Amino acid sequence: MTDLCGVRLRGPILNGSGTFDAIAARRTFGDALLERFPFDCFVSKTITAEPRQGNPPPRLWETPAGLINSIGLPNKGVEGFLRSDLPELAELPVPLCVSVMGFSRDELANLAGRVGDVDEVALIELNVSCPNVETGLIMGADPDETARALERVRPATEKPLIVKLTPNASDPPAVAAAAERAGADAVSLVNTLKGMAFHPRTREPWLGGGTGGVSGPAVRAIALEQVAAVSSAVRIPVIGMGGIASGRDARDFMDAGADLVAVGTESFLDPAAGRRIGAELRDLDGSTDATRNLRENN
Ligand SMILES: Cc1cc2nc3c(=O)[nH]c(=O)nc-3n(C[C@H](O)[C@H](O)[C@H](O)COP(=O)(O)O)c2cc1C
Repeated sequence: MTDLCGVRLRGPILNGSGTFDAIAARRTFGDALLERFPFDCFVSKTITAEPRQGNPPPRLWETPAGLINSIGLPNKGVEGFLRSDLPELAELPVPLCVSVMGFSRDELANLAGRVGDVDEVALIELNVSCPNVETGLIMGADPDETARALERVRPATEKPLIVKLTPNASDPPAVAAAAERAGADAVSLVNTLKGMAFHPRTREPWLGGGTGGVSGPAVRAIALEQVAAVSSAVRIPVIGMGGIASGRDARDFMDAGADLVAVGTESFLDPAAGRRIGAELRDLDGSTDATRNLRENN
């Protein structure tokens, strides 16, 4: 068993928000999904206060060893989510974490309060990779902005708050430390890195949104360094992600200081990736323990 801010999980593998549609997967795989659920905690895609259409297509571009996505957070808005998605997500056999994003501190606090009141929600992840309309700054790009957001959100709920850090900040460890001081219970990282691609013929930007976020193995080395730096700066749990595709990758993130890990882009290649990576991690740790025991007994 693994503990995440007082919530008991059967193992250390989460999904990256927005990279696994559990409702669509249930429709495709039926109850087999519940029997062999790939993750130990399910993180919803990011929910906003009002419904959003998301960005115009195309929304994806494949890079060497990764993806650029410009999805733009399409969602039903918090009330639509609670009405139609939450009952289905509550049937999953693992604790539920809901990811929220607000365009002002008040909006974020209201969202966290609304979602936190729901019994089936075990944890809340704050996606702070968006501009704050009050200041024009990206909430999670600056330690003071992050602290001021947390100070407003913290009194709104007693549920554990995970701050999802953006790698597009000049000093992620300082942002993480500010979040911890202002009451965050955990941090997760990395969100996607900014990127773009050009249409091969028209020479216009390929993505409907112009730019997007890079994920997958292409970002793993950067994510690993940021996880190591953030882990040394905080005492709260760290959830590491960015290009994890194997148990060995997960172990690298844990050796860098992550307490838990999340699988994102890899689930597009293999919807059962979370489960495989968990098993590979257990095998790896089991064989390391066996080697250590052999060494100690000889
Ligand atoms: C298609 C797609 C959609 C995503 N949607 C969200 C989202 O709604 N909220 C969020 O915080 N992160 C979102 N992310 C970022 C992932 O959760 C994760 O932080 C990032 O992709 C790095 O992990 P990975 O390389 O394993 O995918 C999304 C990533 C992808 C590829």
